[in-house]
This record gives sequence, C-alpha cells and structure tokens, in this order.
Amino acid sequence: MPTLDINGKATRVDAAADTPLLWALRDTLQLTGTKFGCGMALCGACTVHVDGEPTRSCVTPISAVRGKKVVTIEAVGADRVGQAVQAAWLRLDVVQCGYCQSGQIMSAVALLRRKRLPTDADIDEAMGGNICRCATYVRIRAAIHEAARSLA
Ligand code: FES
Ligand code: FES
Repeated sequence: MPTLDINGKATRVDAAADTPLLWALRDTLQLTGTKFGCGMALCGACTVHVDGEPTRSCVTPISAVRGKKVVTIEAVGADRVGQAVQAAWLRLDVVQCGYCQSGQIMSAVALLRRKRLPTDADIDEAMGGNICRCATYVRIRAAIHEAARSLA
C-alpha cells in the first residue's frame, strides 16, 4: 500500500502499484475534481501536477509518482498563480459544461508558473493537449492572458 504525497499530505493509497493515478485519486481518495475523458492521454481531462509538471493521470501508474508531489484541482488554488487562474476563469465565465475545465486549469497554472506573460503561441502549445468539446478555447486563452495581467 504505497504512501503518496497528494496535495501536500502523506496519503496511504489502498491500491496496487500499477493502478492509474486517476483511479487512485477518484475512487480511493474521493478526489473527484480530476476527470476521466479518454483514458489514453488524448484529451487532458485527467491532468494533475506531478512535481509541478502537467501530467495525464489516466496513464500514470501510482508507482511512478512515489516520492513526488502530486497536486490536483482541489489544491491548485493554494498559491497566487492558482488563485489568479481560478479568479480569471470566473471573471470571464470560461466554463460551459465544465467537464474539461479542471484539466484546463491545471495546464494553465503550470504554464503561468513557467512563463508569467505567455504569448498566444505559448498558450496554444501548452494547452494543445487539453480538448474542450464545448469549444471554450477563445475564453480559455483570454482568461490565461487575464490571469497573467493580474499577476504582473
Ligand atoms: S482521460 Fe487522461 S488524457 Fe483523457
Ligand atoms: S466546457 Fe464542456 S468540454 Fe470543455
């Protein structure tokens, strides 16, 4: 039964080592903000941070995150960048059905931690793997710029 660092807490996870992190989060730990979309690293709905890197939890076994820091949408608002992104998302009313949005926010926060004033091209590159079936892409891009301005 591995102990993982989830949202800053040492957490015992009652699951086999090859269990995808997504299912450990959702089914074992009831952290259901991270979503299942494709299960094949194609849609980005399951994105979490592993040592700060946006990571597809559907294809990441829990054995691969031992000793690393996992952060999910439930805790991404713990710092200034996470708060700025969530506030911009609300101000610009980004969300439509919402299904993809926790993954979108995780990717956006990782981008802004790496690059404080991203260009449109930076945003397209960083967000390209996060699919939105409601096509909120224009508002997502605007919200990332808005969050960047609020952090400047
Ligand atoms: S559910 Fe993981 S990328 Fe789609
Ligand atoms: S808001 Fe509906 S899939 Fe993105």
